[in-house]
Amino acid sequence: MPGLERYPICCPVDRQVWRNVLRKGDCAIDATCGNGHDTLALLRMVADESGSGFIYGFDIQSSAIESTRCLLEDSSTQTRRLVKLSLLCHSKMEEVLQKAPWLVAFNLGYLPGGGKDIITLPGTTLPALHAASRVLAPGGLISVLVYVGHPDRTILRVQLAAESWSCCKLERLNRPSAPLLLLLLKK
Ligand SMILES: C[S@@+](CC[C@H](N)C(=O)[O-])C[C@H]1O[C@@H](n2cnc3c(N)ncnc32)[C@H](O)[C@@H]1O
Repeated sequence: MPGLERYPICCPVDRQVWRNVLRKGDCAIDATCGNGHDTLALLRMVADESGSGFIYGFDIQSSAIESTRCLLEDSSTQTRRLVKLSLLCHSKMEEVLQKAPWLVAFNLGYLPGGGKDIITLPGTTLPALHAASRVLAPGGLISVLVYVGHPDRTILRVQLAAESWSCCKLERLNRPSAPLLLLLLKK
């Protein structure tokens, strides 16, 4: 089947969307680094041989920042030049950024393999989404993976003006417990 080659079944839908938004040389943000898998996927999408492209990564747990750093350094020689990891709440992203991102990715919830007591919470996720909406380049995308039953589901009420934003919610019809994907496109 031709479709399977283009979109490998193992590739999550959010990454398939990111790939259509990002170009080599772009800046992107991983707002929830966790173990660094999304950060690495983003780095591979934007890094080019000339050393352009840039990723900002945020997490509030030092173990997550450390795991992400190790994964990136094991997988890419470009990490030190092209990635800035910050042990900082994503609601404060504006304190660190020096470039406008084309994509800000949130994968909400707790650190896989870590304690379940530290999770993303609406009190900081909502301000972070607003910060992301301010810094995003026009034409860029905010991607948010939200788990069913998680307190962060209240962010589904996020209000962005229809004149400036196209907002979609992707839901798996045949797997109701699967996370929802919010795609917020800045016009
Ligand atoms: C589901 S994990 C992310 C998984 C990650 N994207 C990956 O590929 O492994 C969610 C992460 O969000 C982090 N987190 C929770 N609250 C945060 C906040 N206010 N700012 C930044 N990160 C936060 C958690 O520490 C956790 O590592």
